[in-house]
Amino acid sequence: MMDLLKFLTCGSVDDGKSTLIGHMLYDAKLLYTDQRRELELNSRLKSRNGKLDYSLLLDGLMAEREQGITIDVAYRYFSTDARSFIVADAPGHEEYTRNMAVGASFADLAVILVDVARGVQRQTRRHIRICNLMGIRHFVFAINKMDLVHYNKNYFDEVVAEIEKIIAGFQVESSCSIPVSATEGDNITSPSVRMGWYTGKPLLSYLEQVDVSDSRKTEAGFVMPVQRVCRPNSDYRGFQGQIESGSISVSSEVTVLPKGEKARVKAIYRGDTLVETAKAGWPVSISFDREVDVSRGCVLVKDFTGMVSNLFSARLLWMDDEPLIPGKNYLVKLGTKTTPGTVMSVKYKIDINDGTHVPADVIYKNEIADCQISLSERIVMDKFDRCETMGGFILTDRVSNMTSACGVIKHDLRRSDNLVWQETDVDRQMRSAQKGQEPRTLWFTGLSGSGKSALANALEKRLLALGKHTMLLDGDNVRMGLCRNLGFTHQDRIENIRRVAEVSKLMNDAGLIVLTAFISPYAQDRENARAIIGDGFVEIYVSTPLEVCEKRDVKGLYQKARRGEIPNFTGISSSYEPPAKPEIQIDTSKCTLDEAVEEIIKQLGLDV
Ligand code: ADX
Repeated sequence: MMDLLKFLTCGSVDDGKSTLIGHMLYDAKLLYTDQRRELELNSRLKSRNGKLDYSLLLDGLMAEREQGITIDVAYRYFSTDARSFIVADAPGHEEYTRNMAVGASFADLAVILVDVARGVQRQTRRHIRICNLMGIRHFVFAINKMDLVHYNKNYFDEVVAEIEKIIAGFQVESSCSIPVSATEGDNITSPSVRMGWYTGKPLLSYLEQVDVSDSRKTEAGFVMPVQRVCRPNSDYRGFQGQIESGSISVSSEVTVLPKGEKARVKAIYRGDTLVETAKAGWPVSISFDREVDVSRGCVLVKDFTGMVSNLFSARLLWMDDEPLIPGKNYLVKLGTKTTPGTVMSVKYKIDINDGTHVPADVIYKNEIADCQISLSERIVMDKFDRCETMGGFILTDRVSNMTSACGVIKHDLRRSDNLVWQETDVDRQMRSAQKGQEPRTLWFTGLSGSGKSALANALEKRLLALGKHTMLLDGDNVRMGLCRNLGFTHQDRIENIRRVAEVSKLMNDAGLIVLTAFISPYAQDRENARAIIGDGFVEIYVSTPLEVCEKRDVKGLYQKARRGEIPNFTGISSSYEPPAKPEIQIDTSKCTLDEAVEEIIKQLGLDV
């Protein structure tokens, strides 16, 4: 199989990025005839006086052509006699940082264009930073527009000196600067006769020969995240996945993380072929000499350098239109494992252009920040610098399912290792059996004045009369004690609900039926509460309309809010996200309190 190089091109609007790649394909006769003809035709209509405009070849999307800039990531495939290539062409402006990151995440090498006449720009540093963050360790600097400086070596040397200073601050395994003219074709596919002083290779030859092997791939030991357990018949149980680093042989002992069980390799299949040894990059199916508990998300390792943890420090590139708010719950996908997790705190954000640390609480789209992340369970991970697969992850929004961020693990936070869950002799089951009831959390949600507190209060009286053991947690009351340090910003409400959910869970463990009356306006927080509390969580949506709540205005707060005296007031200046599928829904404007209570008792099955 021919060796494949995946590379990314980075440059600003006028650096000539698309022209460079277009020219390379054209000169190397890598175009299909129809592409070439279309290019020649189109170019006549464009600005270069009938000369070929090579950028047209790469700027494939209509919108890009209209605006004259590259917007999305465009991928091109081509081969020479020496190598196959996939090139990702990503836009360079700051607002398209996420596109560049996506392109960089797939590439082994970045070709960064620098306009020799303008010299190294702020964005050059940004491009190197994004590429490096996404794991690129090999760089080529195409110092373009040499024709504009009359192919003068001094200009080139000046830019190269500057670049060398910059990359000293990054993790770079190989770097090379090549003087080129993308429009004229100098040093693109063949050596330029106008720059005899340059003795290095032209760009295409360099790309054909550069070694992008990654020293990290051998340091991390054998690592294979399990994608699938394969059981074609009762005799064979194979664990399938791609070997991400190191190698493995038949009869080697491997450890199955996170549990740590050990087994010896009985057989290795690569496709249908039995092999003795398998190495990084191979998709394989491995069977063991004994029964071990393995499922998707487990990781097979040998001489592993990483850790099993639920708390780590990471660098994130934020991609969501919604800003990052600490405390919010996301899904964290790492290797083949997806786990709920929370960004606990932002340490600082990093100026994407110059790398300085800036204090910040909230992170906006296209910003980079260092954060602490906690997961709902302990998973296998490694530092990104040591193992890309086990150290790179994405965060997805639990409601919209969109990718909110990509990130790399810097290190785990050992403090999670020093906590051990203590099993107690008297457990939840015994406590609830003693009380003769199933613990539950009846989670009332709705606008202020919707009737949550009144309803919860009346329901608790009814439950007491039925001989149940209960506890009522009410928003205003809890905010006078446990949550007295919290206000009504998005971030404080997230923390308010998290604390209430944790307390409810403890009370459920005590065997109690808990009733909570909190506005809890955000769907995601309620889902988070559901995840914390687990079995017995019942969402009761008190759906009394805003007009009715405002007319009742029991506490006079709506009037104040309308006068602008209460900031972030739910329903007025802060949003309420109604539950999509509540277990129970009650509109208190359509029934009496007693009817509402009886309806809930009935729906909970407590009326027998
Ligand atoms: S939540 O949004 O975090 O769930 P919570 O239920 O604890 O709110 O508190 C809501 C109560 O706080 C309201 O019933 C009202 O009495 C009071 N309150 C004060 N300021 C606000 C505000 N800006 N928005 C909503 N409620 C407020």
